[in-house]
Amino acid sequence: MTLPLTPDELLTTTRAVRRRLDLDRPVDRHLVEEAIAVAAQAPSGGNFQPWSWVVVDNANTRGELARIYRAAAADYAQMQSARRRAEATDPAGAEGRINASATYLNEHLHQVPVLVVPCLGLRTEGLPTFALASLWGSVLPAVWSFMLAARARGLGTSFTTVHLLHEAEAAALLGIDHTKVTQAGLIPLAHTVGTTFKPAVRRPPAVRWI
Ligand SMILES: Cc1cc2nc3c(=O)[nH]c(=O)nc-3n(C[C@H](O)[C@H](O)[C@H](O)COP(=O)(O)O)c2cc1C
Repeated sequence: MTLPLTPDELLTTTRAVRRRLDLDRPVDRHLVEEAIAVAAQAPSGGNFQPWSWVVVDNANTRGELARIYRAAAADYAQMQSARRRAEATDPAGAEGRINASATYLNEHLHQVPVLVVPCLGLRTEGLPTFALASLWGSVLPAVWSFMLAARARGLGTSFTTVHLLHEAEAAALLGIDHTKVTQAGLIPLAHTVGTTFKPAVRRPPAVRWI
């Protein structure tokens, strides 16, 4: 069963869900596998399909991964506070609201029933722009398809990257060969509390017709 959403409704209401994740409701593995199967239809350079998925629903492993995420987020917060001091940005504005939501996720990550780590089957260090665009462009469309397919099934997600500051430690925990495989992010996933989400306010599109 999927939610009765038009394509545009699905595309414009798939939010970064953090506070509205239902932490008490288990997620059937079958739903996650359906979303992964949908994601496999995403485009990739040369139809290479260099993605793989590590799906964590074991409570101990989730706890350990959440610990790594939190340590990385603390490092990131330090980097950010140095930047904020330099730029004197407004913590009560939109950035402050995102930070408050991200802090909630940070504190509850171990309780999120499923943590998904999409992977790229190569390392990208030192590659030129062409190769970087081709490789990341061959995994991130599948990641977004996965998130859309999850939303259609009443599941909330948010794409996160902060744990990659401690990528090697997460690789060791998850049995990922860090010399050959790159983690693309970490996606907490749970049923949502309610299924109605709104389009967000965005900057006007920067478009130049010539
Ligand atoms: C490349 C990327 C990295 C992100 N990293 C994190 C993260 O580490 N932690 C987090 O809570 N959210 C993270 N996000 C989620 C963004 O904050 C979110 O997509 C953005 O605020 C828009 O949210 P909305 O679609 O609900 O309006 C990331 C998103 C992207 C695209």
